[in-house]
Amino acid sequence: MHAHASCLSHQSVGSNASLDEHTSETSTPPSSLPTSPLPKTPIDDVIDWPPSMKGVNGHEPQLPFTFPQLAPNVTPGVVANADTQTPDSWIRRNPELIRLTGKHPFNAEPPLQQLMASGFFTPAHLHFVRNHGAVPRVDEETLRTWTIRVHGLVSHKVTFTLQELNWLFETVTLPVTLVCAGNRRKEQNVVRKSLGFDWGSAGLSTALWTGVYLADVLDHVKPLHGQAKYVIFEGADVLPNGPYGTSQRLSLAANRDKGMLIAWAMNGLPLEPDHGFPIRVVIPGQIGGRSVKWLRSIEVASYESNHHDNKVLPRHLSPDRARAEPAWWYDPGYVITELSVNSAITSPAHGETLDVSQKELESGDRMYTLRGYAYSGGGRRVNRCEISLDEGVTWFLCKIEYPEDQFRRMVYNDEVLGTLDLTGSDNSFCWCFWSANVPVGRLVKANVIELFAMDESMNMQPRDMYLNATSMLNNWLFRVAVLGSEIEAGTRLRFEHPAPVGTQQSGWMERLKSEGQNVLQPRFSPIPGQVGLKVTAGLAEVSMIGPDVTRKISHEELVTHDKTQPWFVVRGEVYDGTPFLNAHPGGPDSILLVAGEDATDDFIAIHSADGRAKLAQVCLYGLIFQADDSTSACFQHHIGTLANSTTSIKSETIGCIEDENMPFLQPKVWRRSKLLAITRVNHNSCVFRFALDNNTRTLELPCGQHVYIRLRHNRTGELIQRAYTPISPQSAVDFIDFLIKLYRPTDRFPSGGKMSGALEQLVVGDEIEIKGPFGSFEWTNLGSYRWRNISRNVNEVGMVCAGSGVTPIFQVLRCIMHDEQDTETRVWVISANRTEDDILLRAEFDDILVHMGSNRLRIHHILTHPTDDWSGGSGRIDDLVLLTHLPGPSATGIVLACGPVGMIDETIRPALQRTGWDVDTCLVVF
Ligand code: MTE
Repeated sequence: MHAHASCLSHQSVGSNASLDEHTSETSTPPSSLPTSPLPKTPIDDVIDWPPSMKGVNGHEPQLPFTFPQLAPNVTPGVVANADTQTPDSWIRRNPELIRLTGKHPFNAEPPLQQLMASGFFTPAHLHFVRNHGAVPRVDEETLRTWTIRVHGLVSHKVTFTLQELNWLFETVTLPVTLVCAGNRRKEQNVVRKSLGFDWGSAGLSTALWTGVYLADVLDHVKPLHGQAKYVIFEGADVLPNGPYGTSQRLSLAANRDKGMLIAWAMNGLPLEPDHGFPIRVVIPGQIGGRSVKWLRSIEVASYESNHHDNKVLPRHLSPDRARAEPAWWYDPGYVITELSVNSAITSPAHGETLDVSQKELESGDRMYTLRGYAYSGGGRRVNRCEISLDEGVTWFLCKIEYPEDQFRRMVYNDEVLGTLDLTGSDNSFCWCFWSANVPVGRLVKANVIELFAMDESMNMQPRDMYLNATSMLNNWLFRVAVLGSEIEAGTRLRFEHPAPVGTQQSGWMERLKSEGQNVLQPRFSPIPGQVGLKVTAGLAEVSMIGPDVTRKISHEELVTHDKTQPWFVVRGEVYDGTPFLNAHPGGPDSILLVAGEDATDDFIAIHSADGRAKLAQVCLYGLIFQADDSTSACFQHHIGTLANSTTSIKSETIGCIEDENMPFLQPKVWRRSKLLAITRVNHNSCVFRFALDNNTRTLELPCGQHVYIRLRHNRTGELIQRAYTPISPQSAVDFIDFLIKLYRPTDRFPSGGKMSGALEQLVVGDEIEIKGPFGSFEWTNLGSYRWRNISRNVNEVGMVCAGSGVTPIFQVLRCIMHDEQDTETRVWVISANRTEDDILLRAEFDDILVHMGSNRLRIHHILTHPTDDWSGGSGRIDDLVLLTHLPGPSATGIVLACGPVGMIDETIRPALQRTGWDVDTCLVVF
């Protein structure tokens, strides 16, 4: 089906009546699309619309058979369900594109296999899309009056209509591969969440683009010699910080050989709304972000545009720090323009399996063809692709096909495309396809297939990832893991891509990460002579066992060992926790409490795979806590195996304590507690109220401390444990309240939060387990606190929290308020959230403010996504916010903070340090 019978059939033009009738995937598509050309107006007699817009014959042009062929575009007849409630509810999109940012704005990549199956050219319905906001809707009138203003440092300022562009300049067509700078970003996001959303390896597409050379337009307006240096483009989209825009160096833009186009057609048809209808810029060889869609303005200037998102910042800048320090974004040194050399394996696909029989192995006859794509930037040709099947020891060359070269053999002209002439061009502006035939026996022996590409300037794909804050231009070697399992009379291979997007399973990066590997230096095979890290088709567990530790430790030795240098047991192995005492995020108590005990359940339930990896890495490499710098650290931490380890040394007994005088909370005893009620407080948070087992008992939780909650997930059976600070007052009899943010499944995290999932399944009457109190900090009233066994008096307290990190802050603030003897302590609170709806305990904070008065308490709310009528702070916490809304550094001051690790480590800690606080002694992080 050809969607574009004419410009009038274009989705953006004309009445939307037919669309209104067809707004769901289940409705019937329109029986026929209008085919009439644009209605004639007086101006059409003088100068004409570009032929593609007039819908010369409504089809993609038929190219000579010596050229790569265009696949038909299949725009759906109906609006996808996902779009019906968004500002783009008038656009008919291919539901098979994989949405990367939820419903809106629309950012999508094609399924990799479909992209490859469509061949050299990508039909518009499969072309990747990157929209920063809503697509400008162009109706017939807007189209007629659409102009592009060319202004700035030029001799003739001109405003062109589309007909004038068509009339004044030669119509040309070029094949160009557009690549989003974020292509393959998900791989970096698996390592560390960056400032950008996930792209898999299909963030690229190739089309024939038709329009006029930018160089011809610039030649027409005559940039002022010596003054004019840049060309700035702006689109018509309405974004919070103004229209989308970027710039180009004039020296490149004015050069026809660079192939920069102002394009009105894609594969011979009018642009789809998502791709810039009615007109856009196409910049070959550069990141897709330079190809401004819905073009409205071209300014010739002496300066670069101040649109500042396309950067690869230095790697020492974490995402949070990059966000907090705006100066980096304005440094032209980090601007990215040209694409870097890159490649991907597409066959085998992610999840593909290959059964190889013993006979085939022995005969060596059966071959498998590895395939994929490669590209480079700036018109540079990829001149080799190489594969290694032995983790980089040896490499062999692949065959490369360059379909683009077929256009270099002859000039082609037609009414819609104008002139398609690559005969004099050496530029490679398109992707090429590599392939390599390998005997299946070699794949059976391989743990990983590694792909490397190089371009004609000897730019090479690096072995290591350049981990950067925006995660742009990720181009380390593309690796596909090969997993083997035995089947009857042979082997079944299963292939795993690094980080596929969408609803597919996660790739080898997430798997190795969850197994505790350092994914930046992935090992696909067991390391000879080393421990753990074994990759098989099944689930591998990270090993925390030192390879040479043979000591047997008796039960008696374990329990009588000095408790201040705690030994603990995980899965029958004995560890020395002393080096972790200060570094443990839960404070030394978390380890001291399990001294001489079996901590397996706690350890497994509470430590994410990351935590296990940390312990393993400390053990294996001495990396994370830097306790030691060699594998000898392992020998110190893993000290032996518990002799006769079936003996139970668990301290906890779950259940009631009959002694009524004993507090409910016991640090070493899990107490059962019934769910009494769930109260929703906003769109994603609830208060869970649990019963204390005796209706005269109070909680007796020291102020500023937390407890652990543990429960078993109904469905998975997994035991899950997390720390929470209750919000019920200490005086509350009979119950304990937890304010808990529920992390629901999202496109990015389809399984949602583990604890959230388990809590959401609870019904009133269900039981969980609680133990505590824990924490190295306690507010002890009258302006004094004890932290890590040192007591201090203060009269100024700064408190910084984000999201549900408000709970310990609230608890301490309420203690200060309730302390009637204390009339001196002054408190400054900064509470950071996304939206006003996300602010938790706001009414409670307001009550405390009324009680304490504004001379003793100041509360500053700051939102990253405020509405127009929000009168509080907006943006993120930075130096200025901390300087303005916290007390200054002093010997009688302290700052308490609770929020995401990134915010604490990358923003608050360094910012407080810069403003003069001694963060080692004055910053308490909950
Ligand atoms: N132009 C405008 N006006 N608005 C945008 O959001 N996105 C840019 C670029 N041009 C964008 C834009 C980015 S980041 C990319 S990668 C390309 O458009 C994507 O082009 P496509 O959506 O046609 O594939």
